[in-house]
Amino acid sequence: MRESVQDCVDRIDQDRLWDRLMQMARIGAIPNNGVNRPALSADDIRARQLLIGWARARGFGIGVDAIGNLFIRREGADRASPPVMTGSHMDSQPRGGRFDGIYGVLAGLEALEAIDAAGVKTNRPIEVVAWTNEEGGRFQPCTMGSAVFTGDRQLENFLEVRDNEGVRLGDALAATLAATPDAAKRPLRAPVAAYVETHIEQGPLLEREHKTIGVVTGIQGLRWFNVEVFGETAHAGTTPLALRKDALRDAVAIINAIAELARDPSDVTRFTVGRMLVTPNSPNSIASHVQFSVDLRHPDPARVRHLGQSVEPLARTAAKACTVKVTPTLHDDPCVFDKSVVAAIEDAALALQLPNMRIASGASHDAMYLARVCPAGMIFVPCEQGISHNEAENAKPEDLAAGARVLASTLIELANR
Ligand code: GLV
Ligand code: MN
Ligand code: MN
Repeated sequence: MRESVQDCVDRIDQDRLWDRLMQMARIGAIPNNGVNRPALSADDIRARQLLIGWARARGFGIGVDAIGNLFIRREGADRASPPVMTGSHMDSQPRGGRFDGIYGVLAGLEALEAIDAAGVKTNRPIEVVAWTNEEGGRFQPCTMGSAVFTGDRQLENFLEVRDNEGVRLGDALAATLAATPDAAKRPLRAPVAAYVETHIEQGPLLEREHKTIGVVTGIQGLRWFNVEVFGETAHAGTTPLALRKDALRDAVAIINAIAELARDPSDVTRFTVGRMLVTPNSPNSIASHVQFSVDLRHPDPARVRHLGQSVEPLARTAAKACTVKVTPTLHDDPCVFDKSVVAAIEDAALALQLPNMRIASGASHDAMYLARVCPAGMIFVPCEQGISHNEAENAKPEDLAAGARVLASTLIELANR
């Protein structure tokens, strides 16, 4: 390992990284060590301001684009060349943990500070980015900021999306942008030289195999749908079953039909209904309207396509008394990361003598969209028992620091290519 790179990785400060993670975990803290920091909320704004404060203290540049993606920039020798980017997201699941997303942002800042403190000159600029609304817990769909940045989706199509309380995304976004008026305005679809995202694994493999670093090879495919069932409300005690248009009963029938479609003896197919809104939501009124999410995933593009194409016809057949509207909200084909970025991450882990293995991601990440416009890859670190999207999410400070070391080394390599 080159001396300057060694100096840089030696400057990764495990305690500073952990302390910042814990400071962020206080913003939107919920019981049992959990975090609820919805995208574009007051807590998201607080987290952004805390991050900007740390970045400004180092003299890094701050930028923001039209969907609120936040960029922290350290200049390269060639200021005009597209930057190497790293980052992740600061929003969380409603009952999320302290590491999903925010670790990738703070590992990026830690790497940038270490590179700066070591005085390493890179040819390309390096940027840390916090992508807006990766989780999709408040505003659907997920990975919104990165998909709008790459041009795969259009911001205009999301402005009218509403959260469970009826707040428009466009209004929440305007409030978020107004809270960082000093950030330089950045264009969408700007060229990127390469992208590396650091994340907790969110699964049990690294811990089980006693590996510190997961060199991520790709991400499985994903389909999301919003299903609406329209029935008619009536009295629960007086209305004969045969005369009902019970939206909830038909919703259950649809869910059972999709579960049958997703049945897989090898247990690779993933099927989740995680969100359901019932109207009028009263024990003794028949449901007039039900809205629920469908999340289907598989590593094979043909299987993802088949699953996706089957949802609407199945829903129509399964609904007996009600009408159904099926709206596709997301179609992400499986992604395979760039060989040279995967190799750069692996080489960095080997040079640091960190136990590592190649691993595929079951979870989606912003890296999936960046991989469409530039060479991209990801670094995983273990999390306790693979638990994630849960307040109990946990990771070891030394593993988190190790991930930041691999990141710093990889960023230097990519920024000098
Ligand atoms: C992101 O959290 C996902 O849904 O995989
Ligand atoms: Mn995440
Ligand atoms: Mn997540």
